Amino acid sequence: MSTLFTRISELRTVSSAGTLADAALTVADGVITWVGSASDAPAQAPACEETIDLGGRAVLPGWVDSHTHMVFDGNRGAEFEARLAGSSYEAGGIAVTMEATRSAGADRLRALVRDRIAAGRAGGTTTFETKTGYGLNTASEVESAQIAAEFADDVTFLGAHLVPPGADADEYLDEVVGPMLDGVAPYVQWIDVFCERGAFNESQSRRVLEAGIARGLGVRVHGNQLGDGPGVQLAVDLGAASVDHVNYVTDADIAALANSDTVATLLPACDLSTRQPLAPGRRLLDAGATIAIASNLNPGTSYTSSMNFCVATAVLQQHLTLDEAIAAATTGGAKALRRHDVGDGLDPQGRPAKGTLVPGAAADLHVLQGTSAIDLAYRPGMPQTYQTYVAGKLV
Ligand code: NIG
Repeated sequence: MSTLFTRISELRTVSSAGTLADAALTVADGVITWVGSASDAPAQAPACEETIDLGGRAVLPGWVDSHTHMVFDGNRGAEFEARLAGSSYEAGGIAVTMEATRSAGADRLRALVRDRIAAGRAGGTTTFETKTGYGLNTASEVESAQIAAEFADDVTFLGAHLVPPGADADEYLDEVVGPMLDGVAPYVQWIDVFCERGAFNESQSRRVLEAGIARGLGVRVHGNQLGDGPGVQLAVDLGAASVDHVNYVTDADIAALANSDTVATLLPACDLSTRQPLAPGRRLLDAGATIAIASNLNPGTSYTSSMNFCVATAVLQQHLTLDEAIAAATTGGAKALRRHDVGDGLDPQGRPAKGTLVPGAAADLHVLQGTSAIDLAYRPGMPQTYQTYVAGKLV
């Protein structure tokens, strides 16, 4: 099936082609085949079987949400309310979600993840990473990985999210790098660790990540969320694709990121929910680091999948330009998942790239209600997403 999408008021390719006014694009078999001026469309796309008139709306690549925790049951609204009354965020809340997740049952977890994916898509997200990390025993982590793999584009093993209450840390890590890793391996592409005071220290974190590397997994790190720490340097040292949170970073951390291929992933909704200082997106960009923006959907620190909200926050409060914020939430996320365009619209593994609208890339489109993407920041909180297309199909 080939399709012409036309009457696009503003087409943000998020590539060297920039932003086109009065644009059109063509799609065949889920992949973009041509991008250009709407007036050239009849000549360029004579053979398209279908035409979709987008009515003078803005189009950008679908959001690439490179950090979510979708596989969970339960609600921690009371913990959130206590934070509003002055208590600080502690990693221990994870254990509350662990209990609810372990007892949910696969069918219920599957339904919850399906709904979360649908909500993300309704807000313009077309690529989802998600992770385990609320099972915290082998059976439940494997169940979580299996369900995640049914829905998400990329799955991360986060058995090292927290030492479960009552367990010995070293014995638990023996399980994480042994039977748990064996069990989840068929379903995951990435390994992650919560390298933070109250979770795992540097040597424990390194042990987990090296076990994943030995199994051929890519590395991601939760780091520098609650205070200064070794997460960023560890991530860079191990060639991680991303280090996520980065609220508390030193000049040396920023320099290390700028001289690496490790993406610094900002999670603005989480920063607001936990009342942490917003991650220094402006400083990171100015230093030359690559950044991503992700939702961090989870019940403890960021119970939202709204990338539109995250992008608005990055512009309004983290002092990114609109172009920078859109790039971070599209190609930035794609880089954090190693799904970005490395030439001809293909990613490093030769798949249609994500997060950019160029020939060869995935036809993942976020159609806005309005004529310009400036509305994302100019009209924060207003409905923004008109339609979402994944591989050229309306979802
Ligand atoms: O990314 N920081 C660690 N993990 C999650 C929060 C988990 C929770 O509190 O349930 C995060 O913020």
